[in-house]
This record gives sequence, structure tokens and C-alpha cells, in this order.
Amino acid sequence: MLAAKGLGYDSCPIDGFDFEAVAELIRLPEDHVIAIFVAIGKCIKEPCPRGGKLDSPEVIIQNKFGNNMI
Ligand SMILES: Cc1cc2nc3c(=O)[nH]c(=O)nc-3n(C[C@H](O)[C@H](O)[C@H](O)COP(=O)(O)O)c2cc1C
Repeated sequence: MLAAKGLGYDSCPIDGFDFEAVAELIRLPEDHVIAIFVAIGKCIKEPCPRGGKLDSPEVIIQNKFGNNMI
């Protein structure tokens, strides 16, 4: 996404799809996995305002659950 931006494009990650169905559709080789899709193009309008961010301790787990040191 940073590389796309560096080339003057905008992008959106998408993981809300059927990974196995897409793998079959694109004939994904056995030794590959799909991590995420990234749509790349030119933004035609400003993105919607984002919601606020949660505090770090609410979203970061260090080492193991129940041992949040942040
Ligand atoms: C890891 C990740 C996965 C995402 N997956 C989806 C997705 O499956 N479908 C979707 O509509 N947006 C997904 N998004 C959000 C889009 O990238 C994009 O921000 C959003 O669709 C923009 O529309 P909005 O401003 O109306 O939210 C994902 C974002 C991230 C960071």
C-alpha cells in the first residue's frame, strides 16, 4: 500500500471474502497463501471520516493474554 502510494495510487485492504473460493478461482499454487486483497486505484472522493482509535492497552496483547504490560 505504501508502494502504491509512492507511485501515486490509493489503496484499500479487503479480507472479507472466501479465501478458498478465490484461491480456486485464480488457480492459486499449492505453495502460496492469500494473506489479504489490496484494491489499488485512484481515489475519486475523500475517504469517510474514521472513528476514533482505541487506547493501546485495548488492542495490543504482549506475550500472552492476561499479562498486558502496556
Ligand atoms: C485489514 C483490513 C481488512 C479490510 N477488509 C475489508 C472488507 O473485507 N470489506 C470492506 O468493505 N472493507 C474492508 N476494509 C476497509 C477498507 O479497506 C476501506 O477502508 C473501507 O472499505 C472504506 O470504506 P468506509 O470509509 O466506508 O469504511 C478493511 C480494512 C483493513 C485494514
